[in-house]
Amino acid sequence: MKILLLGANGQLGQELNRTLPALGEVMACSHAEVDITDQYSVIEVIHNFKPQVIVNAAAYTAVDQAESERNMAFRVNAEATGILAKEAARHDIWLIHYSTDYVFDGFKPRPYTEADSPGPINIYGESKLAGEEIIAGSGCHYLIFRTTWVIGKDGNNFAKTILRLATEKDSLSIINDQFGVPTSPALIARVTINAIEAIAIARHWPVGLYHLAPHGETTWYGIAKTLLQFAEEAQFPLTAGESSLQPIKTADYPTPAKRPANSRLDTSKLEQQLPFTLPHWQYDFFVAAEDIIKSYKRA
Ligand SMILES: NC(=O)c1ccc[n+]([C@@H]2O[C@H](COP(=O)([O-])OP(=O)(O)OC[C@H]3O[C@@H](n4cnc5c(N)ncnc54)[C@H](OP(=O)(O)O)[C@@H]3O)[C@@H](O)[C@H]2O)c1
Repeated sequence: MKILLLGANGQLGQELNRTLPALGEVMACSHAEVDITDQYSVIEVIHNFKPQVIVNAAAYTAVDQAESERNMAFRVNAEATGILAKEAARHDIWLIHYSTDYVFDGFKPRPYTEADSPGPINIYGESKLAGEEIIAGSGCHYLIFRTTWVIGKDGNNFAKTILRLATEKDSLSIINDQFGVPTSPALIARVTINAIEAIAIARHWPVGLYHLAPHGETTWYGIAKTLLQFAEEAQFPLTAGESSLQPIKTADYPTPAKRPANSRLDTSKLEQQLPFTLPHWQYDFFVAAEDIIKSYKRA
C-alpha cells in the first residue's frame, strides 16, 4: 500500500506521519515540499510516487485571518482540494480529506448529522464547505471526515494557549456558551487507519462524508477546566489555577470570525463502519492533555 500524505507538518499531519507507516509505504510531504495549490507539483508527486491513497491533512486553518484573506482560504481549502480530487479521479486513487463543524451555523439544538444542511457563518467554514462540494462532485473515491476542535501535542491549539496563559496571568476568562468536544489527532489517525485498511482489504467502506468526534459535550471553559485540573495534578507551575477560571459568553470575547454555538456532531454513521466505539471526549482528551503537559514541562 502506497500512501501520499500532504500537509505532513500540521497538527494532524504529524500524527498521521507517525502512524500511517504501519500500513505500508508513506510519502509524507510538508507544505514546503508540496504546495497543494501548485497543480504541477501535485501532478509530479502523484506521477512519481503512484499512491493508492492520498491523505490530505493540508489546509488553510487560520479561522480569524480568513475573514481578511478570503482568496487564500478558498485557494487552499477549495481550489487546491479540487486539484487533488481531479488527480485522484484520473488515476483511481482514494482521497481521504478532513473538514470541519464550522460548515454549520450552530443554531441546531441537537448534534449535527451528515444529512443536515450546512450554512457556514465564517469564511473558513465557507471555504471548507466549497472543498467538500468539489470533492463530492469530482467522481473520485473519497472519504471526508468532518471533525471538530482538534487538540493534540503538535502545532498550535487551544490547550497549548491556555497552558501558556495559565503560567503568565492570575485568572483567565473562557467562553462557556459554545458547545462541542475536543478531538485528538490520535483519534482521527486511528479512524483514518481503519478506513484505509477497510478500503485496501475489503473495499467495503462507502464513499462519502462522515462526522468524526468523541462522544459527550463540553465548552471551551470545560476543556480549560479539565486541562488545568490535570496540570495541577501533574504539579505544573501555574499562576492561574483551575479555580481562577471565569466563564464568559461569546459576546464578551469578540473575534473577527463568528463561531457556531453548537459544534456537536452526530457520529452514528461513522460508528456503523468502525470496529470500535468512539471514546467519551474526556478519555480522548486525557491522553492528549497528558502529552501537552509533558512536552511543556520538558521545554
Ligand atoms: N484545528 C482544528 O481545530 C480543526 C477542527 C476541525 C477540522 N480541522 C481540519 O483538520 C485538518 C487538519 O487540521 P490541523 O489542525 O492539522 O491544521 P494545521 O495544524 O494548521 O495544519 C495544516 C497544514 O497544512 C499546511 N498547508 C497550508 N497550506 C498548504 C498548501 N497550500 N499546501 C500544502 N500544505 C499546506 C500547513 O503548512 P504551513 O503551516 O506551513 O502553512 C500545515 O502544516 C484540516 O483539514 C482542518 O480544516 C481542524
